[in-house]
Amino acid sequence: MIHKSLPKIWYGGDYNPEQWGEKEWSEDIRMFKLAGIDVATINVFSWALNQPSENTYNFEWLDATIERLYQDGIYICLATSTAAHPAWMAKRYPDVRRVTFDGRKRQFGGRHNSCPNSPTYRTYAERMAQQLGERYKNHPAVLIWHVSNEYGGYCYCENCQKAFRVWLKDRYGSLEAVNEAWNTRFWGHTFYEWDEIVAPNGLSEEWKNGQNTNFQGISLDYRRFQSDSLLDVFKLERDALKHHTPDIPVTTNLMGLYPELDYFKWGKEMDVVSWDNYPSIDTPVSMTAMTHDLMRGLKSGQPFMLMEQTPSQQNWQPYNALKRPGVMRLWSYQAVAHGADTVMFFQLRRSRGATEKYHGAVIEHVGHEHTRVFQECAQLGKELASLGDQVLDSRVKAKVGIVFDWENRWAIQLSSGPSISLDYVKEVHKYYDAFYQKNIPVDMISVDEDLSQYDIVVAPVLYMVKEGYADRLKQFVKNGGTFVTTFFSGIVDERDLVTLGGYPGELRDLVGIWAEEIDALHPSHYNEIKFENAYGSLNGEYKCNILFDLIHAEGAEVLATYGSDFYQGMPVLTKNAYGEGNAYYVASSPDQPFVQDFVETITADKGIKGEFVSAKGVEVIAREKFGEKYLFVMNHNTETSSFELGETVMVDQITNETYNGTAQIKSKDVLILKEMN
Ligand code: GLA
Ligand code: ZN
Repeated sequence: MIHKSLPKIWYGGDYNPEQWGEKEWSEDIRMFKLAGIDVATINVFSWALNQPSENTYNFEWLDATIERLYQDGIYICLATSTAAHPAWMAKRYPDVRRVTFDGRKRQFGGRHNSCPNSPTYRTYAERMAQQLGERYKNHPAVLIWHVSNEYGGYCYCENCQKAFRVWLKDRYGSLEAVNEAWNTRFWGHTFYEWDEIVAPNGLSEEWKNGQNTNFQGISLDYRRFQSDSLLDVFKLERDALKHHTPDIPVTTNLMGLYPELDYFKWGKEMDVVSWDNYPSIDTPVSMTAMTHDLMRGLKSGQPFMLMEQTPSQQNWQPYNALKRPGVMRLWSYQAVAHGADTVMFFQLRRSRGATEKYHGAVIEHVGHEHTRVFQECAQLGKELASLGDQVLDSRVKAKVGIVFDWENRWAIQLSSGPSISLDYVKEVHKYYDAFYQKNIPVDMISVDEDLSQYDIVVAPVLYMVKEGYADRLKQFVKNGGTFVTTFFSGIVDERDLVTLGGYPGELRDLVGIWAEEIDALHPSHYNEIKFENAYGSLNGEYKCNILFDLIHAEGAEVLATYGSDFYQGMPVLTKNAYGEGNAYYVASSPDQPFVQDFVETITADKGIKGEFVSAKGVEVIAREKFGEKYLFVMNHNTETSSFELGETVMVDQITNETYNGTAQIKSKDVLILKEMN
């Protein structure tokens, strides 16, 4: 629970008053009040201002800013300013500057630009956190610490290379074990001394900016290592802050499906997860929903913070579409519906110069409140104020878990063959979307998550099976669970070494099949999934593409077979009874109608239903606490749409209007329904 001193959905966002003067500051406060803004994230990019030279610190401006805001009832999400190092530091200490994928030493510039293994960066970042912790530990305005900003990017410098060797020693114990893990007899890459190991990049094993590698083992480990290195600098700052303020929560803003960091590992180190939501105008709403659920999953279902979203448009997309009227509000509530306890923006006042001057903000360049964007923000601010603490700390309760794993994702992406068109996130989303369309809540879970809380667990393309995981899945199915996995699963262990003896390796007896070969065809080429007999809602013929496992049933029941090619008649969908439960294997990448009918079938079998039926495009999801259920109904369509409440009479917590029977919801509108008592 992060909302002790401000028990409502926090409303505000990034605020950079250091880019402005007194005239704007007083206008800012006036307009924040008009908009119901009560939290400002400050000090994100002010390292150069806070530490103008090596031994001088200057926090007067920050003292004054915090004071000014707090006097007017605005609380602070206090960043540590370490997301971009000062120019003097880059000049004096080259080690803070990263080395790029192609081996070039960076100059000063940009942001997210510090090497995580630079002694200078580590020293000064930690010291900055100490200074801030010490200085503001008793300030009642400070609600939460925001360490750095959107950690990301890899470095390939000498210091990283050295630290990588240490990391490897730690993980493997010996050079022999490293050689074995990476299968270095291949192409004669055997290492005899630790310092023969170099970073895998464009000068060594990788090409296409790390999309391709000769050695999956070293590339996979370098990703783990860089993710750990950045996590380590986060921990340095976190611990420095915790030393002074053990009770103030610490977060750093994540980026949803960002590929480079293993966020499940990060989530464990953060008090509260926060993330920045920037969908494009054509991002499917179910993809955004899935990403929220993934961020909620990082801390096993605890509420998270929506740290940033744009009130209107971004600047960094090729085409920066405005959020249409109502959409900012709709997407804000979508975040809340999926577990966010804050609604925050980037940013509160739009910059005047540099790269983000065309990025939307609550206060636009015109400088007054008479804009569409401001009015929509103010409307939402009013609503969030009136909701008070109602939904705070409530939970989404799901009986379905979908497995997501960053290391598996890296391994699939780095794999040379069988197909460049295999996209892990897309395959996961395919299944997610089918549950989403039926308003069935889903938890996005790590491979560490306790499975016993679920009736159904889906692990699309579980290519890498980590130590002990197959046994845990077996236990889950033995106890009556329904497990679904797909083609190209059970292939390798954590080292990316193939599990010998037939695919899908350790999952083989669980799913009761053997995959003898894997065919990969151009994605425009389809095969068919054919049902001789209907199975639940599955019937007739569907299409599949990308990869085609040629499988033999070894005890599993064959539910459907391939319709064409030389493997026509071989199984493509199987079901294996295992203990009290069932394990399904989907041997190819199916079309959406298949996934929908399949999900319909397995959920019906388990008696899992969505909250209630709604028109396509009307999303329904519940948050619960103290036995109360808050049903968020969100219409993503461009027209009024309907949903079915039946006999139950429900009250919208925003407008107090009552609903029952076949109810209507306007385009882009949101209802938060609670049963009338
Ligand atoms: C990110 C950053 C912000 C800002 C926004 C712009 O999320 O954290 O500092 O650059 O993008 O969309
Ligand atoms: Zn480095």
